[in-house]
Amino acid sequence: METAIALDFLGDLRRTHSCGALRAADEGKNVLLMGWVHRRRDHGGVVFVDLRDREGLTQVVFHEDMGKAAHTRAELVRPEYVIAVEGKVALRGAGANNPNLATGEVEVVASAIWILNESRTPPFPVEDEVSVSEDLRLKYRYVDLRRPRMQRNIMLRSKIAFAVRECLHGQGYLEIETPFMTRSTPEGARDYLVPCRVQPGTFYALPQSPQIFKQILMVSGFDKYFQIVRCFRDEDFRADRQAEFTQIDLEMSFPQQERVFETIEPLMQRVCEVAGFQVAAPFPRLTYAQAMRSYGSDKPDCRIPPMHPVEDLLPELANNNLPLVAIHVPATGAPSRKERDELKAFGQERGLRVYDDVKRLERDHAEPMASVRARCGAGENDLVVLATWAGEPKGHRPEETVYQACGQLRLHCAQKFNDRHKLLDPKNLQFLWVVDFPMFEWDEEESRWNAAHHPFTSVHDEDLEKLTADPARCRAKSYDLVLNGSEMGSGSIRIHRRDVQTQVFAALGFTEEEARRRFGFLLEALEYGAPPHGGIALGLDRLVMILAGETSIRDVIPFPKTARGTDLMCDAPSEVPERQLRELGISIRGHGK
Ligand code: AMO
Repeated sequence: METAIALDFLGDLRRTHSCGALRAADEGKNVLLMGWVHRRRDHGGVVFVDLRDREGLTQVVFHEDMGKAAHTRAELVRPEYVIAVEGKVALRGAGANNPNLATGEVEVVASAIWILNESRTPPFPVEDEVSVSEDLRLKYRYVDLRRPRMQRNIMLRSKIAFAVRECLHGQGYLEIETPFMTRSTPEGARDYLVPCRVQPGTFYALPQSPQIFKQILMVSGFDKYFQIVRCFRDEDFRADRQAEFTQIDLEMSFPQQERVFETIEPLMQRVCEVAGFQVAAPFPRLTYAQAMRSYGSDKPDCRIPPMHPVEDLLPELANNNLPLVAIHVPATGAPSRKERDELKAFGQERGLRVYDDVKRLERDHAEPMASVRARCGAGENDLVVLATWAGEPKGHRPEETVYQACGQLRLHCAQKFNDRHKLLDPKNLQFLWVVDFPMFEWDEEESRWNAAHHPFTSVHDEDLEKLTADPARCRAKSYDLVLNGSEMGSGSIRIHRRDVQTQVFAALGFTEEEARRRFGFLLEALEYGAPPHGGIALGLDRLVMILAGETSIRDVIPFPKTARGTDLMCDAPSEVPERQLRELGISIRGHGK
């Protein structure tokens, strides 16, 4: 950029206050502020500059008749110029206060200004709300991050990370680092690989989580470990998923599930407090089976009322002995024909038969429908939709397939009518634990059982003999922390005995050889006095997202990637010079070249 005006040096100028600090009590103080020009208004003899830094905005006023040189120079500044100003704090006076601004009762009457740098016209305004594409925001991320909303998000993230450290250190946890260049870890996504130059043809994998290392740290006797750690997973991106994301990861020795909850609940209370929310503990708990039945999801959004199975009240409406589910949507009034058609189509697309004609149902089945409404606790103005499965039973736990589809319909209804009932209030924080997950999930594509959490998760003591006999009904000692319908964290009590681990691997269809090849060092470690241990990992990005009131984790990650995995600011990933590839013993095949 060609510099049009002579810039000033910072020299030994020193800030006295941030741009968010001054109050009426500071009247009369001489101050020196530095920051970015947020806005400049030129009223002839008077120039107003709103000066911005991460802490806020302060109005600075340059009067021509009180300092000609400063006034002239202030006329040169434009949005996003970086300046320093010296002046005296004055009360704005009656009628001129800005109640929306923490500094709104005062202004700085400037006596001097230094222009430290210019700025090109920014690609979008530095305001909370901007109507430009996210791609443009990501390309100019340094400008985007200046927006007060993004500054608040990133500062909240920092405060939360600090609170986590404080709280966990206070509970006797040690912060211990684990490697980024390692072997494949067991979280089930694809790995990012890093070629090893000195051993051509070999690769490190970036960790999908520190799972194995934290277990090894327990074997090593560190007792309580935590880390705020980056994890890497090559999986499809979504609003709540990134390839690189951050976990609050912890592990402890000699735990029961209760000990994990006792660690996490005060941690969440503290973190919420930092973000300005009070939450009550202990958090409610649901078993996986209850969560499925009542919410059709293993991450229930408890801001909306649960569903109720009602096949006992209206058996003639249930299909194939599968559940008939009442979905209760408060304060909707009677839905229009169009709305009903839309709900029905949504359900049908997911395999449901939806009884959307409530009036007709209530006419034909008056008595049982009154009982349905009573079971749901539905008021007069509330909608109750009934749904069952339309076709043949599907899946290894067919009732779950029905509940899941109904759960989606329930959420859809809640979102659709949210304008009317305002249930999905982001400030209403509903934590809960979901416990007793199934041990295994059926993989249709590969026709085999997969570990629902990961293969080091303990099975319930009383379900041990079901490992091979009835894997579908085998429960794991695993638990999820859920907040407003989002999975915040996930963990388990681990297998610490080599013989049990062997059985679980066998149930998962791993041969001994395969298990040894992938996780041999952990298996061996279990043979050297591994204590009972367990833990959890929380998604920091998701947590900050919800506490910041955002709906995308990209808005709480300083430098996120797009859905295609691109960093638009630095243009990564990129091709590398042939020489670099040769050193690594790599040649590129195909990919349209
Ligand atoms: P899990 O794979 O469930 O468990 O991950 C724990 C938590 O991390 C967050 N999370 C993500 N956040 C953003 N982007 C992603 N791609 C992403 N993937 C996961 C979620 C999730 O609940 N090692 C086990 C934990 C344990 O057993 O202790 C693990 O990683 O909030």
